[in-house]
Amino acid sequence: PVPPATPQYRPAYHFTPAAHWMNDPNGMVYVNGTYHLFFQHYPEGMVWGPMHWGHATSRDLVSWQEQPIALFPDKLGMIFSGSAVLDVNNTAGFGKNALVAIFTYHNPDEEKKGTNKHQYQGIAYSLDEGKTWTKYPGNPVLPNPGIQDFRDPKVSWNPVAKQWVMTLATKDRITFYGSPNLKTWAKLSEFGEKLGSHGGVWECPDLFPLTLGGKTYWVLLVSINPGGPNGGSATQYFVGQFDGRKFTPTTTTQKWVDWGRDNYAGVTWANTGARKIFLGWMSNWDYANQVPTSPWRSAMTTPRDLALRQVGSEIYLTSQPVPEVAKLAQPARKLTSLTVKNELSLAEKLPSPGTQFQLRMSTKQLRDFQLVFGNAQGEELVVGFDKAKNEYYIDRSKVGDNSFSPKFAGRAPGPRLATSPAADLTLLFDAASVEVFADDGLTTLTDIFFPKQPLTTLSLRAPSGLTVETLSYAQLAASAK
Ligand code: FRU
Repeated sequence: PVPPATPQYRPAYHFTPAAHWMNDPNGMVYVNGTYHLFFQHYPEGMVWGPMHWGHATSRDLVSWQEQPIALFPDKLGMIFSGSAVLDVNNTAGFGKNALVAIFTYHNPDEEKKGTNKHQYQGIAYSLDEGKTWTKYPGNPVLPNPGIQDFRDPKVSWNPVAKQWVMTLATKDRITFYGSPNLKTWAKLSEFGEKLGSHGGVWECPDLFPLTLGGKTYWVLLVSINPGGPNGGSATQYFVGQFDGRKFTPTTTTQKWVDWGRDNYAGVTWANTGARKIFLGWMSNWDYANQVPTSPWRSAMTTPRDLALRQVGSEIYLTSQPVPEVAKLAQPARKLTSLTVKNELSLAEKLPSPGTQFQLRMSTKQLRDFQLVFGNAQGEELVVGFDKAKNEYYIDRSKVGDNSFSPKFAGRAPGPRLATSPAADLTLLFDAASVEVFADDGLTTLTDIFFPKQPLTTLSLRAPSGLTVETLSYAQLAASAK
């Protein structure tokens, strides 16, 4: 039975399927002005089930149109996560500018045999910009050598290797494969034995270049479940070099794309040139099947532009909301030079927050603070900073009826990596989610939450005093004019 509808939790500028289950983003590719987003989808139920690739498109990354299902399970298995490329030079022979999807087949019958060969890679192509797909009759293109977890191929044309390179999650390692034509694949190397977090299985990798100070670095994203910094699912990354065969990280420090509880399996869009746009699944396997939304389950994160930044001897990945989000902003209400002692209610100074909005705050001297989004029922969603621990956090323990899962309520901290005394934060709200971008995206936190009543009040707590340089509030419209 489908539980009563929860339109109050339906986001406006984040993608959700109209109905039923969704998990990982798949096959993200940009073609002729359109961003394609495919996704893990079970179109017959509200919990994870036989996986299909759903499909949505957008021209601006903030308003999405759901399209007919792209890939259905077949006799080789369910369609698990993967990627898509634009085959500009017709290397696969399906046609010039064919879209080629590279995905994992998961075969439950094979799984029962216990041979560890039930996940293997297949391809499909589209000659009409993703509307209709034909599966390659020669599938699988990469059979399984006997590795239990052998999935989530992310493929891109590699200018160093001068061939297609696939990053594949293989148990708790990443294996790189190369191919001239997307149909035959040869192993290049393996990564991860002594590095990174190994608290769970590795999933959904991505490898792409970014430049910093004129130098090119390669970033390797690796999602892990469980084993995230605040429990359950999260995405770690490595910054290093890729010589066409082998990935070598620059340092061994453990790094996370997002420290919040709800940003998983994120990868980047193909075919966007030097711009690298990231999108994650805004949930966590700890409770994804139980979250109280209906008739759909799960949303994607806001798309984020990725960049590199040097802090001391480390190079970090930064994530910033794509500028397309700012186009949704209504005229901002800006407060300057606020002095907070203990608690300052912003009720008189700002409009009631509403459900879709952006809040920006800057201070020249960062100290303990809490931005408290509340209501008359006593619910509180808190975004704060703890100076003694040097960490930002989101605390959703006092908002919503969280009894649907013992793992849901709580406080998710993420370390502050910036070193300057001045700080700025951007918060994005959309019905049932908050995304925090601190210090220009050096520390990011994403959490979902389900208030019983709308959050209508905003106050600022600062027990040891705080001077806020600017606090600006802008409502975000559902679509740009
Ligand atoms: C990640 C994941 C992938 C897999 C897919 C199945 O969330 O477990 O590794 O391909 O979901 O839906």
